[in-house]
Amino acid sequence: MSTASIPSTWRALAAAAWLTTGLTLAAPAHASEHAPATIRPWSPVALQTALKELPSGNAAAGKNVHDTMMCASCHGASGNASTMNWPSVAGQRFDYTAKILLDYRSGLRDEDERAGLMTSIARLMTPQQIADVSAYYASLPRPVAPQAQAALAAPLSAAEHKRVEQLVRKGDASRLITACASCHGLHGEGKGTTPAIAGQTTDYFIRTMRLYHSGERHNDVYKGMSQFSKRLSDADTLLIARYYASLGQSRTAKAD
Ligand code: HEC
Ligand code: HEC
Repeated sequence: MSTASIPSTWRALAAAAWLTTGLTLAAPAHASEHAPATIRPWSPVALQTALKELPSGNAAAGKNVHDTMMCASCHGASGNASTMNWPSVAGQRFDYTAKILLDYRSGLRDEDERAGLMTSIARLMTPQQIADVSAYYASLPRPVAPQAQAALAAPLSAAEHKRVEQLVRKGDASRLITACASCHGLHGEGKGTTPAIAGQTTDYFIRTMRLYHSGERHNDVYKGMSQFSKRLSDADTLLIARYYASLGQSRTAKAD
């Protein structure tokens, strides 16, 4: 498809998105206020079939998509988001990025006005562009959260680090919280359609956890995230977000 007509649409969308960035930590509306999704959720088989049916992705072509479709203007030139409020996409798993772009395209991921923005964008993408940009993000080193920008990202104290590492690696049986690491990997590196979360921007991380909690983000196949996020306190979520932000930084430094 031609991308020549896109930028003016994008600029309007981007302006709208900037206006909403002040809502960062606003409490989400309750699930009951949320219109029920009319889009059929994925079954595990349907998802795997859809991913297999995508053309194979080319990272160099994906870089071109990232630059010409203005993804870079929000997600950063090299996939590191320019604000804490927008997700970084660098180092993300191919399958997760592709799934999410399909979810935005179908409207399955529709948690708020920012998701609506991505829906408009994803609907302009061809399957080839989705595959290419997913391959490009997977080829980039995992992100460095822009910690210096946010008080939220103050380094963890030794006691906080110990507490959060116990929670993410061992879980908490008394609250039926499964270890995050059992799905997202010991270093937050993700696998397949389970996203990498190391180095993710803290504001986005917290917002999306709350949206799983309230049921407004409901696009995960097994509904696992809504269960775990329900049982975490706000203080836990904040600590976990800071922990994963810090993992991204050290992992990138080791370049593995
Ligand atoms: C105007 C800003 C803007 C532009 C342009 C933009 N995005 Fe986004 N993108 C966002 C925001 C904000 C979110 C978070 C939406 C939400 O909370 O659901 C997001 C979410 C995403 C996600 C999900 C990240 C995650 O961890 O779940 C992917 C993947 C993504 N965008 C890819 C792209 C691609 C590819 C393009 C270009 C074709 C693009 N975006 C263009 C603002 C933008
Ligand atoms: C049973 C496996 C499993 C466990 C345990 C799990 N997750 Fe997830 N998580 C997922 C999957 C799968 C997704 C992607 C869902 C989707 O498609 O939206 C996800 C998505 C996320 C996202 C959204 C990432 C993004 O870029 O938008 C965050 C943040 C997250 N998980 C954090 C956590 C934390 C923190 C814990 C521990 C308290 C945890 N997860 C436990 C499987 C799991």
